[in-house]
Parts: sequence; C-alpha cells; structure tokens
Amino acid sequence: MKFKGSPPDPMPTDWEERYLAEDTPWNKDLPAPGLVDWSDRNPTPRGGSALVPGCGIGHDAHHLASSGYLTTALDLSPTAIGLAQEKYPGIANLHFREGDFLQNPPKEKFDLVFEHTLFCAIDLDRRQDYACSLKDSLKPGGLFLAIHFFIPREQEEPPFGTNLEEITDLFSPFLELREQWTPRNFPNREGEEQMFLWGMP
Ligand SMILES: C[S@@+](CC[C@H](N)C(=O)[O-])C[C@H]1O[C@@H](n2cnc3c(N)ncnc32)[C@H](O)[C@@H]1O
Repeated sequence: MKFKGSPPDPMPTDWEERYLAEDTPWNKDLPAPGLVDWSDRNPTPRGGSALVPGCGIGHDAHHLASSGYLTTALDLSPTAIGLAQEKYPGIANLHFREGDFLQNPPKEKFDLVFEHTLFCAIDLDRRQDYACSLKDSLKPGGLFLAIHFFIPREQEEPPFGTNLEEITDLFSPFLELREQWTPRNFPNREGEEQMFLWGMP
C-alpha cells in the first residue's frame, strides 16, 4: 500500500545504458578515500584475496590489487568491465569479470569483500539477496569492509540510503561488527558516509 506523500516507486536502473551514455556521476576516477586510509592502516595478509562487487571502472579494485590482494572485480555492465580492463590492463593480481553479484556470486570465497556504492545501487527489495551473496562469498575469518550511505532509503532513483538498524538486521545474523567510523570522503559526499568492518566468525 502507498501512503499519500510517499515517493513514487523507483524506475529500475539500466546500468549498461548509463555507461554507454557516459552518464556515470558516481565515477570519481580514484579509489574511495575511506578505502585508501583503511588499507594504509591494515597490511594485506600474505596471499589475501579480495572481491569488489559492482566494481564499475575498477578504481577500488585496482587499489586493493596494488596493496597486494589477489583481486576479483565484478560488474553487471559489460561496458564498465571493458572500460576497467582498458584503464587497468595486464595486472597479474587483478581480474575483471562480468556478472550479477545478486544472482550468481563468484563460486570461490574471499578474505575480503569491499562494498562501495553497490548496496545503495540495488533495489531495496534485493538487499536480502545481497546479504546472501555476501555470506556465500566470505571465507571463515573473512572481512566485509563497507562504505554505506546514511541518507534516506526511499528515493526516486539510486543512491538508496540505509541506516544502522537495517544493516545490523541484514548482516549481524552471520557477521560480527568490529568497527564503525566516519571515513574521509569524496567532496560531494560530506557527512553521508559511514564505514563498517565486519568479520565472519
Ligand atoms: C553506482 S555504480 C558504482 C560503481 C563503482 N563501485 C564506483 O564507485 O565507481 C553501481 C555499479 O554496480 C553495478 N551493478 C548494479 N547491480 C549489480 C549486480 N547485481 N551485480 C554486479 N554489479 C551490479 C553497476 O553496473 C554499476 O557499475
């Protein structure tokens, strides 16, 4: 049921179309500042593997690979994957892969999953699917490092925000919260981002 004053239902986003039209305001051509700061403080475990779902043009994935992670970067959009491969070619520990994280998460499990602007891009009713794919993607002892947008959930189009209650409900059934902090952010995202480190028991 819709109440008077509720925002209209969002239109599904055609991500491939957005990349083809070069309508990609989320792309900052740099890794997320919060990720850069975290990886400066936390040495990469020897042989550690990382997954970046919804990698876009691959800046975060490239940063993790440069930090030493054997990195798999996944995106639904073939154009995004092509652009990422063009921008970051021939890096032995960085693999770009086309795929749907919600329907077909990678078969392998990872030491680290890094979330940045995929959770806020999917429809609200797919968030439980996101949690299931995340659970399937982490090794025992693995880490989920996430930047979330603490802005309103109900919007006409992405980014769809979240809050502490929602992410606790979604992730605490299988992950332990280790840390929460306000990260350094891109200039137009002041005060919107919260960063979380979760661990798989
Ligand atoms: C807002 S963009 C963010 C891209 C990148 N993380 C960045 O910060 O530049 C969301 C990305 O998620 C991808 N995406 C959306 N749904 C997906 C899904 N189910 N599986 C994998 N990628 C998805 C889109 O193609 C798009 O590249």
